[in-house]
Amino acid sequence: MSDAAPIPDPESPLRDATDSTPLVGDASDLIIRGHKYDGIREYDNPMPGWWTMLFLACVAFAPLYVVGVHVFDWIDDYGEDLAEAQADLAQIREVYASTGPSFKTDPGALAEYAADAAFVEAGVEPYQAVCAACHGDAGQGLIGPNLTDDYWIHGATPTDVYRAINEGFPAQGMPAWGNQLTPEEQAQAMAFVLSLRGTDPPNQKEPQGERVTGS
Ligand code: HEC
Repeated sequence: MSDAAPIPDPESPLRDATDSTPLVGDASDLIIRGHKYDGIREYDNPMPGWWTMLFLACVAFAPLYVVGVHVFDWIDDYGEDLAEAQADLAQIREVYASTGPSFKTDPGALAEYAADAAFVEAGVEPYQAVCAACHGDAGQGLIGPNLTDDYWIHGATPTDVYRAINEGFPAQGMPAWGNQLTPEEQAQAMAFVLSLRGTDPPNQKEPQGERVTGS
């Protein structure tokens, strides 16, 4: 303490009566608690006011909470919150299902589309519209790789090709089509691309990637 107060009265009730230590020091002696154990004395450092208020607020809140949850049911417990969230989720799923997102893009479904002549045929249009500029009208390759040979950088399964279309390779110069084409159009383009394999068109770009036998 910088602003030293007068040395307190040795008879002060704040002092330990049995304490015979001579009074040296400053006003901080005033805030020594009136007890002494094994020669150890303790400063009277009250908790800060804000802390005490928080503590009291917690003490006041606790019984309200217990009563609210267990007696009057004002406050939902875990099970009730869970049931509510599950009801919301069921509703979201119902709305989602009613918008008809029945078009599946899991590997099994993609393999089926790839083998489906209707998909291959429908894929001509999106392919010529957005892919041919980089991969050639017959898939022979221009800026983008040749799609008719057995060499693939990113794999030749229906899922690989679908992902290539959907996500693109922005860093390598192929844009993502996930937001430009519907999932169905992407699947059609995928089926068409896979149908190009082995067609051996003229002016093919040199092979890129690994040789893939089978799909
Ligand atoms: C702006 C040019 C561009 C357009 C448009 C484009 N691509 Fe590509 N594509 C590329 C490039 C470049 C690569 C090579 C990426 C790499 O090097 O990793 C590529 C890679 C691919 C691959 C992977 C080839 C492999 O060897 O693994 C497939 C499949 C593919 N494109 C299909 C398509 C389809 C289908 C479309 C149309 C929906 C399309 N691309 C549109 C430039 C393009």
